[in-house]
Amino acid sequence: MITFDAESRCFHLANDRISYIIRLGAGKYPLHLYWGPRVRRVSEDLLSALSAYTDETFSLHGLPLDRLPQECPTYGCADLREGMLQVRHADGTHALDLQYESHAILSGKPPLAGLPSARGETAQTLVLTLTDGCSGLSVRLLYTLWEDVDIIARSVEIVNRGSAPVVLDRVLSACVDFEQADFSLLTLSGAWARERQPFLRPLVPGDQGVSTARGASSAQTSPFLALLSPGATEEQGLVYAFALCYSGSFTASVHVDQDFTARAMLGIQPFGFSWTLASGERFQAPEAYLCCSAQGLGGMSRQFHRLVHRHITTGPYAQTARPILINNWEATYFDFNEEKLLALARQARAVGIDLFVLDDGWFGHRDRDDSSLGDWWEDLRKLPQGLGGLSSQIHAMGMKFGLWVEPEMVSPDSRLYRAHPDWCIHVPGRLRTEARHQLVLDLSRPEVRDYIVEAISEALTRGQVDYVKWDMNRNITMWGSQGLPAGRQQELPHRYILGLYEVMGRVIRRFPQVLFESCAGGGGRFDLGLMCLMPQAWCSDDTDAWMRCRIQYGTSLLFPPSVMGAHVSAVPNHQTGRSSPLFTRAAVAMGGSYGYELDLGKLPEAELAQIRELNTRVHSMQQLLLYGDFYRLRSPFSGNDCAWMSVSPDRREAVVTHVFALAQPNTKPRLLRLRGLDPALDYRDADTGRVWGGDELLSRGLRLETPWNDYQAQQFHLVALPHGESRV
Ligand code: GLA
Repeated sequence: MITFDAESRCFHLANDRISYIIRLGAGKYPLHLYWGPRVRRVSEDLLSALSAYTDETFSLHGLPLDRLPQECPTYGCADLREGMLQVRHADGTHALDLQYESHAILSGKPPLAGLPSARGETAQTLVLTLTDGCSGLSVRLLYTLWEDVDIIARSVEIVNRGSAPVVLDRVLSACVDFEQADFSLLTLSGAWARERQPFLRPLVPGDQGVSTARGASSAQTSPFLALLSPGATEEQGLVYAFALCYSGSFTASVHVDQDFTARAMLGIQPFGFSWTLASGERFQAPEAYLCCSAQGLGGMSRQFHRLVHRHITTGPYAQTARPILINNWEATYFDFNEEKLLALARQARAVGIDLFVLDDGWFGHRDRDDSSLGDWWEDLRKLPQGLGGLSSQIHAMGMKFGLWVEPEMVSPDSRLYRAHPDWCIHVPGRLRTEARHQLVLDLSRPEVRDYIVEAISEALTRGQVDYVKWDMNRNITMWGSQGLPAGRQQELPHRYILGLYEVMGRVIRRFPQVLFESCAGGGGRFDLGLMCLMPQAWCSDDTDAWMRCRIQYGTSLLFPPSVMGAHVSAVPNHQTGRSSPLFTRAAVAMGGSYGYELDLGKLPEAELAQIRELNTRVHSMQQLLLYGDFYRLRSPFSGNDCAWMSVSPDRREAVVTHVFALAQPNTKPRLLRLRGLDPALDYRDADTGRVWGGDELLSRGLRLETPWNDYQAQQFHLVALPHGESRV
């Protein structure tokens, strides 16, 4: 898949569908020649794209690098654009002239030190080593290509082979210089309860993009951007997308320059970051994924979904059905005791729910959100028989038992804080800014990490826990670590994330059979980094069906349904006050890892019976819903409805979900054109028995019922008729 042609000095990374070509300009500068749909060979014409600067005329005189497409640009030697790397040498200067030293083509994919990354047993990796002769700083660029997914993983490792320390002020993970900037830029932005909404804008000269300095990948934006070629749509046209495998502050930006070329880059947020690299030390930057789709945004999403399922998520639940869960949070909030929980669990079991999750409030003396984080011992007032007693009774009902924890935090009103007031992130002498009455533990410190691993492990053992919801409910302010010298304080944001990955990894390795779901005040840290560790993440605290249509639609651009925790909750909805039918709430929750978050005791018998049926339905279709090829059909951002479908790999089964927002009188039935089906097959709706040809569904579509009342959903479970069976 990866070849090097010594004559043209080109590296060609290609699978059956995509090519990525790098050329060593003047034998020493890695230039970006091509990325896109597969090309068989490197033509004269492609090479002459760089013809103004052939090897003979190439020199640093006349600043050719300022106008050339590069793989690892640095500012200020001959390129005047912002680059991927910026350093400070011992003499205070920042020049960095990185030239080719060697390369290697490896089978497989090396893991990244301290950071989560995709697996690549079946992949190939190109390692390009560049060196700055003056300082001895060496940079390893890694490019991994898989056979089965149209994505290239890139990462950067810096090694200080000089004798003096170097300060890294900026280390981004990937850069692509596009020959032209005639793209629209798509990014995801939002807020708590309104996460990951898509925004599209044309590129213009200058800088544009998204970034965060909150210490988390954040609800406000996502480490992702896509560039849409003119005319690219949901289903067709060329789209280039970038995503970062990282859970901390990041930047993802595009710079459009004098020639109307576009430089896309992403990586760790440089603002507030620096890292001292002593002689002999290495720094590993997170992995970035570069996706090229010739099938529009839909094709891009299906590539990312495939990457997640085949190469990112791990553990016993990564490819399998997930238990249907009930979480007591919106049912009880902090107001519960063992009796109340057991009553809810019994009702849940009776309607076919598999997993009971005990949320916040089980430890210390936490009756509100203002105490006890850090004290991971059960509150015997609420749970007189402890976690073990509760869990045994739930297991005896035939259900699994899950537990909420927020390991990264400490409440000032806690035993932990009183014992170790310096363990939180803070600046001595300044106000310890609280959010939700809590402070953030300093995960850069080994003793803090050890405490968390032990305390959480003991709680999971006592509770015989099968599932963990790992929450994180505030962003970081007043950055300061008592474990770092003055010159290294700006390493804290990245060291925090490294500490987080270490802590999570240690806990997960101790409990390999447990299903872990990450959470951050809803979807405030929803990124590929955490998905390497935990195969599920709570998508949003907003459980309103229509809001979830919007949130899950935006989220699906990058993430498959299997990773999106989605629950049916009570009406009126606790976040919006809106009421929508039970079936609608369930149909929308089926767009993710399905569960409930309401007091079943308050529901009429008819609704409990409906929930029983819904659970049977989810169990029967879950593999398809979670892992099928996902197609967005109608955007809730551009109209009054939303629709999506999942199709099995053999195209013999599909589930189509459609939601109308506001009912409108006097309207004709509408048609919903489907995707991904086999035109040669006939499909029967398993619920109504109606039959259509796949060709008809692809070109004309399904006729939708005109809704009576607001927020109505329809779902079609299409199953191909056996070959030869008549379609009448
Ligand atoms: C966060 C989570 C919620 C719930 C609460 C508990 O907000 O997103 O689902 O667990 O914390 O405090």
